[in-house]
Amino acid sequence: MLELQNISIAYGEKEVVRNVSLRAEKGEIVGIVGESGSGKSTLIRGIIGLLDYPGKIIEGKILLNGRNIAPYPAEKMREIRGKEIAMIFQHADLSLDPLWTIGKSFYESISMHKKISKQEAMACAAERLKLLSLKNPEKVLNLYPHQLSGGMCQRTAIAIAMANDPELLLADEPTSALDMTVQNQVIENMMSIREQRGTTILIVTHNMGVVEKMADKVGVMYRGRLVEWGSKDEVLHDPKHAYTQSLIRAIPKMDGTLPQAPERCIYE
Ligand SMILES: Nc1ncnc2c1ncn2[C@@H]1O[C@H](COP(=O)(O)OP(=O)(O)O)[C@@H](O)[C@H]1O
Ligand SMILES: [Mg+2]
Repeated sequence: MLELQNISIAYGEKEVVRNVSLRAEKGEIVGIVGESGSGKSTLIRGIIGLLDYPGKIIEGKILLNGRNIAPYPAEKMREIRGKEIAMIFQHADLSLDPLWTIGKSFYESISMHKKISKQEAMACAAERLKLLSLKNPEKVLNLYPHQLSGGMCQRTAIAIAMANDPELLLADEPTSALDMTVQNQVIENMMSIREQRGTTILIVTHNMGVVEKMADKVGVMYRGRLVEWGSKDEVLHDPKHAYTQSLIRAIPKMDGTLPQAPERCIYE
């Protein structure tokens, strides 16, 4: 469904993603982990065409169902964004328009890609909210983002991202700003979306627990490179790269023994 071939991305002269290749089949959940600054956000923003200036894909292919979208100009990416690929961010409250009710955000997101009446859009929105087991969806549609809790906001943002049934959902640290119980809810929500819609999900997280729970495949980024790639079992139980090994040693153990802090050395 998604295949990256030798993707490199630079901000001006500064190359921050180097030669990354990976693939996700339909309905797979891919977890990308790695320390801050390793290029995770840049990589997924590159996929959806939302790189901050002067970010640019300088090499490689992004194959979406076999079609290379890497060279697409901005206006062509706008057609794909929301419809075929959607994205959710760490701070959902910032990605929702504060002046719009949740219902209006849904309507705008759907009507950008197809002709639809307000009434039809609201019915579709209520259905998407139910998919996330949100209670009283009709009521939520009349609320503004500031009237929702952080967890509700993130789940609503996921529902809006799913408004047009995208095949690929990109999530950049979607649970990092939430407390533990709400994190679990959001993870369950994403897994049930995959179950019910067959959505392919690429999730960036620094939380190995999230990877353990959700991912089918795992990639580890280190200084712009994908230094580890494989099935979750391979990566968690038989990591090849020294950086991955130190990440895994740092996962808190259930038996109460203290994890080792990730090492501060530089790996090649
Ligand atoms: N708009 C930008 N201009 C220049 N450099 C940037 C920009 N955005 C990010 N970077 C740099 O790119 C590198 C990767 O950043 P990022 O993709 O945000 O990493 P991560 O998400 O893994 O923390 C960092 O060195 C960061 O400073
Ligand atoms: Mg980031």
